[in-house]
Amino acid sequence: MIIFKHAQSLAKHILTLHEKGQTIGFVPTMGALHNGHLSLINQSRTTCSSTVCSIFINPTQFNDPKDFEKYPVTIENDILLLERAGTDILFLPSVAEIYPAGLTSPIHYELGYLENILEGFYRPGHFQGVCQVVHTLLKIVVPDYIFLGQKDYQQCMVIQKLISLFSLPVILKPGDTLREADGLAMSSRNLRLSPASRQKAVAVYQALNYIKMHIKTTDIQQLKQDAIQIIEQAGFNKIDYVEICDAATLLPVEEAGNGKPLVVLAAAFLDGVRLIDNIIIA
Ligand code: PAF
Repeated sequence: MIIFKHAQSLAKHILTLHEKGQTIGFVPTMGALHNGHLSLINQSRTTCSSTVCSIFINPTQFNDPKDFEKYPVTIENDILLLERAGTDILFLPSVAEIYPAGLTSPIHYELGYLENILEGFYRPGHFQGVCQVVHTLLKIVVPDYIFLGQKDYQQCMVIQKLISLFSLPVILKPGDTLREADGLAMSSRNLRLSPASRQKAVAVYQALNYIKMHIKTTDIQQLKQDAIQIIEQAGFNKIDYVEICDAATLLPVEEAGNGKPLVVLAAAFLDGVRLIDNIIIA
């Protein structure tokens, strides 16, 4: 695996790969890698001739400075995992390398309602920061495919919107959410859970699954209340949302059963760690 710290040298190297007719797959990450990330690397390796992974904890997407400070950093282990997974290139830039002119974005991304609902509502500015960094990374890496985990369902929709807004020549491939044995969605933030909290954390998945199991027989508002109760009873301190949405638009639905695929999403805090998850009901 070749490690690049500078955008210019990476871009030059990628140009030679493109000239040789290679296809480039890109997996952007913030590190603290787990099997979810590795499955995206694997997906890229089976689709593309070269796989690029980036590790960059992007300061502009954190609306909560404490969350940024506490974001887990496990770089040595990450490098080991990426090498074992057969990654060709790791891009490991500094903040100054990505934002030479400072953190303020010269572009406002017109994301429409996607920016103001769910994650966008509870994390103001988050998706502008995500677009700012992904747009910058895409300009450096110029991949044919970008692989993103569906655990961040709304992020996948936002990046698809970014691709359309700028007609970027890249195809987004969403990857399935990987889960621990008890069902907890794999996430870098799980590393911040104490052993006791880790036991309780699965309640979000259980609540989403409860909705899936009862969607045909129970009223939507009742289902959401029941799910909130499951999460609260497990010991979560705060719930941002439990929502049942149209999987294509992410707009909330008032009733199920019109045959359209749904996505059930939740975000909640456990001992200061914000966990999100979703499941699709096809
Ligand atoms: O999903 C993430 O880890 C981040 O939001 C991403 C896409 C790497 C951008 O910083």
